[in-house]
Amino acid sequence: MLLNPFERRLVSGGLRRQVLRRWDVSRWRSLGADFTEQTVLEIGCGCGHGVAAAYELMGAKEVHAFDPDPQMVTTARQTLTRHGLFSRRPSVQLWQGEATAIPGGGASYDAVMSFQVLHHVENWRAALEEVARVLKPGGSLFLAESLRGFVEHPLWGRWMEHPAEDRFDLPELEAELQRYGFSIQGRRGRGRWMTWLHAKKTN
Ligand SMILES: C[S@@+](CC[C@H](N)C(=O)[O-])C[C@H]1O[C@@H](n2cnc3c(N)ncnc32)[C@H](O)[C@@H]1O
Repeated sequence: MLLNPFERRLVSGGLRRQVLRRWDVSRWRSLGADFTEQTVLEIGCGCGHGVAAAYELMGAKEVHAFDPDPQMVTTARQTLTRHGLFSRRPSVQLWQGEATAIPGGGASYDAVMSFQVLHHVENWRAALEEVARVLKPGGSLFLAESLRGFVEHPLWGRWMEHPAEDRFDLPELEAELQRYGFSIQGRRGRGRWMTWLHAKKTN
């Protein structure tokens, strides 16, 4: 589901860039995020702050990223051009797409990252299955995710728009990850509103 105008503005500004780098990435790093020499996929890349952070803070060799919202993809292209990331070799790849239908063959990526995306995806279970398909065996999935307690909060619910059905709490998210062959390596956060999680694909 695409963002409403309020949330689109929220994630497009400089504040989101700071929160993502200082809060999300620092938690992932404490869970082992190091993309040195790795090819990384970001699902739901928004305006590109995660792609820049993967190169600049986590050492990625190559990053591919997509978002279903054409406006986001355009903004991401501008952000990454500003950071000089399209002139890298191999350069970043960016496209309009859906987490439930990731193009390309299986076992293609060393790591997949998702900053605040799954709770916007109607069929988040199918998205996890796709992520498992494109990850190499032993590859890592890093999630920063909002849980049911946040999505269904009476105050936040008035400002942001999310699919109403089948949102998840931490045990449900972890159970679904295990169903697709992930083992949980570690998590941060108390797990009612938000979680930061590292899972490895075991086979
Ligand atoms: C809260 S924003 C986060 C954006 C960015 N990852 C960040 O952290 O700044 C959620 C993003 O998920 C995207 N999204 C929504 N449905 C999606 C889907 N089915 N597959 C992939 N991305 C999706 C939205 O377009 C939006 O850019």
